Amino acid sequence: MKKVVILISGRGSNMQSLLEAKLPCEFVAVISNKADAGGLKIAQQHGIPTAVVSHRDHADRAAFDMALAEVIDSYQADLVVLAGFMRILTTPFVERYRGKLINIHPSLLPSFAGINTHERALQEGVKIHGCTVHFVTPTLDSGPIIIQAAVPVLRDDTPAKLSARVLREEHRIFPQAVRWLCREQVWLNSDGRVATNRLEQPGAALISPGLS
Ligand code: GAR
Repeated sequence: MKKVVILISGRGSNMQSLLEAKLPCEFVAVISNKADAGGLKIAQQHGIPTAVVSHRDHADRAAFDMALAEVIDSYQADLVVLAGFMRILTTPFVERYRGKLINIHPSLLPSFAGINTHERALQEGVKIHGCTVHFVTPTLDSGPIIIQAAVPVLRDDTPAKLSARVLREEHRIFPQAVRWLCREQVWLNSDGRVATNRLEQPGAALISPGLS
């Protein structure tokens, strides 16, 4: 069974969705860069070992990433999952975990990389927004995409309302992506593209606003 380490920075709702999804893997640790991350308590309630590697204790990104990698490697992780981990990672760190490092991002990438995705989606007036799970590569939020979910943007949306609608879908697609990776049904090919041995299952079209 694959050993999975989850990295968080905050409340940990995506982490919780993974811990509760009965996935075919062993969650060996949850690591946070913030000691007060709410998700650490949730992990402990699930009996998962936790650790804190504070970015504040390190002189620069390189030193922080080295320290983080040491802790991850002490758990012999096969897969490292960024679940609301809000630190930009250096190229050596990302390359060390090539094909084993995935992230969930609250937008339909490549639109709205970076932060404040829901505010920016509303500002741009897009009618469809969503979330993406992707392999992490050195360029921020631009790695090969594993799965996406789309939601409609509604007329009276606020960033909070839209964020809640997207988050519900995050909690569905993230466990699915981890399940596929653990079962080796999806992987990162040497050409840098996502490969799969699953039968294609096309989803329904989302048209927003609706046609009627
Ligand atoms: C989630 O919406 C996740 O997609 C986002 O942070 C939130 C964390 O919530 N991640 C990023 O923005 C990464 N760039 P959670 O702690 O409740 O899972």
